[in-house]
Amino acid sequence: MADSPTTSGHSEPLAVDISNDAVSERATWSGKLAFVLAGAASAVGLGNLWRYPSLAAKYGGGAFVLTYIILVLILGLTYMITEIGIGRRTKLSGISAFTRMAADTGHKGAGWKAVGLFEIIVPCIIGPYYCVIGGWILKYMVGYALGAADEIAGTSYFTSFITSDSEPVAWTLLFCGITMLVIILGVNQGIEKLNKYAMPALLVLAIAIAVYAIATLPDAGAGVAYFLIPKASDFSVMTVVAAAGQMFYSLSLAMGIMITYGSYMKRSEHLASSAGWICLFDTVIAVLAGLMVVPATYSFGGVEATKQAGAGLMFQTLPQVFDTMPLSSLVGFLYFALVFFAALTSSVSIIEAVVSGIDDASHVGRRKSVRIVGIALIVLALLPTLGYSVLSWVHFPIGSADMTILDFADFISNSVIMPALALVVSILVGWVIKPGYIVEEVEADGTRFALRKVYVFLLKFVVPILLGVVLVSSILNSVGVISI
Ligand code: PFF
Repeated sequence: MADSPTTSGHSEPLAVDISNDAVSERATWSGKLAFVLAGAASAVGLGNLWRYPSLAAKYGGGAFVLTYIILVLILGLTYMITEIGIGRRTKLSGISAFTRMAADTGHKGAGWKAVGLFEIIVPCIIGPYYCVIGGWILKYMVGYALGAADEIAGTSYFTSFITSDSEPVAWTLLFCGITMLVIILGVNQGIEKLNKYAMPALLVLAIAIAVYAIATLPDAGAGVAYFLIPKASDFSVMTVVAAAGQMFYSLSLAMGIMITYGSYMKRSEHLASSAGWICLFDTVIAVLAGLMVVPATYSFGGVEATKQAGAGLMFQTLPQVFDTMPLSSLVGFLYFALVFFAALTSSVSIIEAVVSGIDDASHVGRRKSVRIVGIALIVLALLPTLGYSVLSWVHFPIGSADMTILDFADFISNSVIMPALALVVSILVGWVIKPGYIVEEVEADGTRFALRKVYVFLLKFVVPILLGVVLVSSILNSVGVISI
């Protein structure tokens, strides 16, 4: 019942009507759980699985974890409520929501359009390269399913795969195809259904692998203690900066996603508690990912091996760790199945933000918008894929680094545009539109926003200051002036 599509405009959930472009009505989630699952599904992604554990290892283990949890409670939740509130109140995705908000509150000017434009630029940059990594994950998942744990643990396996001309292209296209299939099926029949199965599966797999890793690996206890017990001497300013930057990425903020997903939320649902559940779920999975990865890499190569971030950790170090475990192919397969679910539900959310944005801004209809985005995704995803083979001559010298196309796309979106955009949005909503716009939306279900004063204070003062610090430090870090 909850998923049944109707197009007659009554209170039942509306699946996006892709058969009738001109009059497609806005979809709504079938209920609070569907919304929370969708938000959590977007939030839980590579950010949790490969960035969080290595950042935690680098910035003091338990000290980082504690700082992160406090920041999520204070700042992540504040900004999450703001984005969902913008989406639900305007019933529009990021690109058009800001002009509507300005019109609602008597503001004018081209700046609002520009903010909307950046809300769609971020997912346009992240979506394609995320699908490239999604393709790598698929390749590993299939490889483990075929029992190739030994081969995958080989030192040159990853490099020879990504530098080959055609194989990565095929896997990238497959991942793009799966993502687009979910999008074509629509909000209720595609995204909701996927999340309903993928998210519980992901949670079970994360717990099972964490328990198995801790139980079977020698000296895993030392890694667990390092990860979970905060020590005062491990705190530093950089702990806060790194945790804040990671938090925005991990919660899928400043990507236009939560605005888009908020626009599908019914006004009768409790907005603030839904935002709270998404933050909680994302943080639990991040900590579980830490419990999966930190003790494993710690037992394998000490704290130094654990500090390695990104592709190296997931595609090189972890396969070597799995190879030392009993049932290595099964463990590897289950781990990459988990990563696959996490990556797919995130890539779906980011592509949905673009599809919905194009539809809102141009009124071409969802069906056409899906087609445009599908073709653009394939073309754009080929660039970072080929960046390791035929396009390997393209690189970007940033500071002391010489970045590939994929690294550059990641850098420009995560380290520059996203914190800058979040800073601008928090100032606009906090000081120009005024937080009352969001507070009213939070209370639209008839309940009182008990923490409204705290929310207003955090949005106006604390969020912009912290985002300013994150922005400056991540740029200084990238150009090599400081080292995060
Ligand atoms: N919160 C996501 C993560 O932690 O991976 C961020 C994200 C990245 C969402 C890329 C969507 C996406 F396509």
